[in-house]
Amino acid sequence: MQVIMFGSNGFMGQRFLEIFPDALTPSIDIADGRNVAELLDREKPEVVINAAGKTGRPNVDWCETHKMETLRSNVTGPLVLLEELGKRGIYWVHLSSGCIYAGDNGGRGFAENDPPNYSGSFYSRTKAWSDLILKDFPNILILRLRMPFDGSTDERNLIMKLRKYPRVLDAQNSLTSIPDFLVAAKALIERRATGVYNMVNPGTISPFEIMELYREIVDPHHRFEKLTLDQLGGVVKAGRSNCILSTEKLEREGMGMPPVEEAVREALSQMGSASQA
Ligand SMILES: NC(=O)c1ccc[n+]([C@@H]2O[C@H](COP(=O)([O-])OP(=O)(O)OC[C@H]3O[C@@H](n4cnc5c(N)ncnc54)[C@H](OP(=O)(O)O)[C@@H]3O)[C@@H](O)[C@H]2O)c1
Repeated sequence: MQVIMFGSNGFMGQRFLEIFPDALTPSIDIADGRNVAELLDREKPEVVINAAGKTGRPNVDWCETHKMETLRSNVTGPLVLLEELGKRGIYWVHLSSGCIYAGDNGGRGFAENDPPNYSGSFYSRTKAWSDLILKDFPNILILRLRMPFDGSTDERNLIMKLRKYPRVLDAQNSLTSIPDFLVAAKALIERRATGVYNMVNPGTISPFEIMELYREIVDPHHRFEKLTLDQLGGVVKAGRSNCILSTEKLEREGMGMPPVEEAVREALSQMGSASQA
């Protein structure tokens, strides 16, 4: 299967290459319609994966001060892909985010078709805008991740980020274990699934609880304090979404992931073994 992947140098793009190692990885701007069209006509891919986007460095606060760049990559680019891939009837996959919601939706978690209810950061707004448009069109698989983590030492891994914080937020969230995500994403792509999927592990956990497990499993000397949601505003520029997504759709289709605490423990065990080696 001929696969083209955009954003292949990024954190998630690199991980996606593990399941599509033979994918073509052009380094063109996805918002440049002419280049995208030429590439598609030349390569005639069966599947296109869009892992390109601006998430901000060192974090999403960057997007508040770089709105045009963020808009170009997170909205204009996906719209160009929508048009060019749509014209050619090519199946494609778009990486989206659960950070378009806040809260737990009355304990039910947000389902795939619940309207976004969080607009506290420019990044979140761009992700919601593109989602709302793309989900109205056929032939697109929209995968919503949240705070992806694994047992690696990649600085973009959630656990590696949390390790650096002296104060860690204690708010329950849905999270995505990257190894579990890759298994489910591959299965969905192979069956050419379309529409929106919440790609998170069932159950909830807080970043603070993750660091407590980190202290238990990886480093008993690690020091950090609890940060409450009320205190968060004083620490960050853009708002941060804290939310719980429903995993019912994925489970109904036989692709549910393991519970989140189990996945976190697994990732931490991997980190612990690596640090002792
Ligand atoms: N990591 C997360 O926490 C997370 C959570 C939920 C959803 N997601 C979504 O997953 C996707 C990938 O995120 P990531 O964490 O892998 O981000 P990343 O590490 O910043 O990688 C994104 C990649 O896309 C490239 N890119 C940006 N704008 C582009 C454009 N206009 N045309 C072509 N390539 C472009 C970037 O290149 P440059 O570095 O040169 O800009 C980079 O290589 C994004 O859509 C993001 O919203 C990520």
